[in-house]
Amino acid sequence: MIHDILRMGDPRLFERSREVEHIGGPELRALLADMRETMQAHDGAGLAAPQIGVPLRVVIFGVERNPRYPDAEPVPYTELVNPVLTPLSDDDEEDGWEGCLSVPGFRGLVPRFARLRYEGYGPDGRHIARDVDGFHARVVQHECDHLDGILYPQRIRDLRRFGFTDVLFPEMAGTAGMDE
Ligand code: NI
Repeated sequence: MIHDILRMGDPRLFERSREVEHIGGPELRALLADMRETMQAHDGAGLAAPQIGVPLRVVIFGVERNPRYPDAEPVPYTELVNPVLTPLSDDDEEDGWEGCLSVPGFRGLVPRFARLRYEGYGPDGRHIARDVDGFHARVVQHECDHLDGILYPQRIRDLRRFGFTDVLFPEMAGTAGMDE
């Protein structure tokens, strides 16, 4: 089922989500199916459960190679439960443009750790551990922030680098942006 996505201003987006206690059950599978459908319907690069009003630590993300975004490296489709992020170097930050399905129509320049390890569980209870960098690392940090009630505008250091997508990137007008 495709859900409405909560938008910035809704207090549910600013709460900390709970750990999933029973990984592998039908409820989690149903939640993930709804998240997948909702993300695809909105042409998103990622989605966190609290964005559809479910306060659980569950995120999904993935980017296929897209001719509209030749610079965006593909990220394998991943479903991640109870994720834990560990930066691989504390002083290794990089700025990049982000959007969010909960902040439609905007983009902002956000500093993120360039490289990190993420761990968590797949829907079948399998342990997942990956060392990633670049856009993959950025998407994971953006999605996991949602689980702690943080939206990307809260991380922007220079608000002049926050604006309407079609003003910032006129060449992208008429295309759906890449939102998380
Ligand atoms: Ni988002």
